[in-house]
Amino acid sequence: MALDANAMKKLVAEVAVDRYVKDGMSVGLGTGSTAKFMIERIGELVKQGYDLTCTATSVQSEELARSLGIKVVDLDEIDHLDVTIDGADEVDPGMQLIKGLGGALLREKIVAAATINEIIIADESKLVEKLGTKAPLPVEVLRFGHEHTRYALERQGCKATLRMKDGEPFVTDGGNYIYDCKFEAIEKPFFLESRIDVIPGVVENGLFLNTAFDVLIAKADGTVESMADSLAKKEE
Ligand code: 5RP
Repeated sequence: MALDANAMKKLVAEVAVDRYVKDGMSVGLGTGSTAKFMIERIGELVKQGYDLTCTATSVQSEELARSLGIKVVDLDEIDHLDVTIDGADEVDPGMQLIKGLGGALLREKIVAAATINEIIIADESKLVEKLGTKAPLPVEVLRFGHEHTRYALERQGCKATLRMKDGEPFVTDGGNYIYDCKFEAIEKPFFLESRIDVIPGVVENGLFLNTAFDVLIAKADGTVESMADSLAKKEE
């Protein structure tokens, strides 16, 4: 029987924790519906006696983790994270990513930068040949002058839409707005990132390039593929 989306998320989250989290580690907790299953699995390990020090990429993930008895500290209380497990919105064949549809891209990027092994968990619906073909690219911007920032973003060839929630602009944990930038396809992600990052008012973009140590993909047939393993095999 084919697995549904939730079953795939749970499967890949549990496989990732069991493969990459060891007793005594410091662990970054991602955000989103796939990461939620990962936090629940970490909670089970803590109950079994694992000594883990965690930091969260969102208020939402922090609250869930604390409710499960997981020790959560501020990122600045630790030197680095051994591993972070997080979701993604798009994954290309080279493990380049778009993240941030859950609104946590800024903290996710800061946590990823402090992490030795960033592990991405996703179901096969997130796979794309080219970034930007399914999902918009979320870009977090300062509220001040955000219409001007939108104009500059659209000059990069996208339609930029201010993210809304309950009839009001969505506000991130950092107090900023998000523009969801829809491209037909992102042909040159590294170049685009360099263009977006120099726009005044941009706080962070949702391109996570050369960030993933491994991407685990759950398939409807109940298997989980490690893209790092598959890429390594191709090179042999
Ligand atoms: C949040 C993210 C999430 O990891 C991403 O949106 C995937 O979420 P989900 O697992 O719910 O599909 O980047 O900012």
